Amino acid sequence: MSVEAGRTPGQTHRTSYDAETHARLTADSDAIVARYPQARSALLPMLHLVQSEDGYVSPRGIAFCASHLGLTTAEVSAVATFYTQYKRHPNGDYTVGVCINTLCAVMGGDAIWEELSDCLGVGHDETTDDGRITLERIECNAACDYAPVVMVNWEFFDNQTPDSAREIVDTISAGNPVVPTRGADTVVSFKEMSRVLAGFGDGRANEGVGGGVPTLRGIELARAEGWKAPPLQASGTAAPAGGEPKVGGEQSSAQRPATTSGDVSPAGEQKKQTSGEAKES
Ligand code: FES
Repeated sequence: MSVEAGRTPGQTHRTSYDAETHARLTADSDAIVARYPQARSALLPMLHLVQSEDGYVSPRGIAFCASHLGLTTAEVSAVATFYTQYKRHPNGDYTVGVCINTLCAVMGGDAIWEELSDCLGVGHDETTDDGRITLERIECNAACDYAPVVMVNWEFFDNQTPDSAREIVDTISAGNPVVPTRGADTVVSFKEMSRVLAGFGDGRANEGVGGGVPTLRGIELARAEGWKAPPLQASGTAAPAGGEPKVGGEQSSAQRPATTSGDVSPAGEQKKQTSGEAKES
């Protein structure tokens, strides 16, 4: 079992990028930063960009993000360690995630986890010796209608069994492509997927099946029954059944001290929105 595929114990981290890589990452980062009103808002996609280069959020990647965004390395690390999609050590070519949240677990997710952990010989967040697969227990991926689900680099494999999940990892281990139930036609590598998550499309967004029958069941039923969503208020939220919440009352955000005109009256909120729209136009 190797936890840090691609780096042996005791081997030091490389602390900077060569000039060509640095120039390429800088150009990509400039494109990411340009999407946001404030540079620091670009940190999450930039961490994916670093993963697309190094296969994890490396120390040099943290230093690069900090210097590009005017942050400290401690601030970047604090964000990188909060989200499980950011890896703290070199990841395998494919992250195989088994959902072990309640619905998937009772539908067979726990049995799938046992099967994959046994056959791969690794535990949670560990990577096989050949560097192909990092196995993870994952939380609900909002695909409960297809429970139990397995994710491979964030592509869905629905309605799995221990045998079908075993077939997926055997196929990956043999170096062959795997085909998700929904999404793109095949699953790209962890580094390639990380670049997509950084916001650089790979032209495959329209491949494969989107929403399936179980996912669309609710909207089909609503259409058949003529159900409609309640009308929106000016603030963009649904009007409560009993009218406006009383200031300071249950479900009222005005339980905190008012800091803007929008906190004290819907008219103030309306005025704020109108002036915001005027600024944008
Ligand atoms: S519980 Fe597994 S996708 Fe929701």
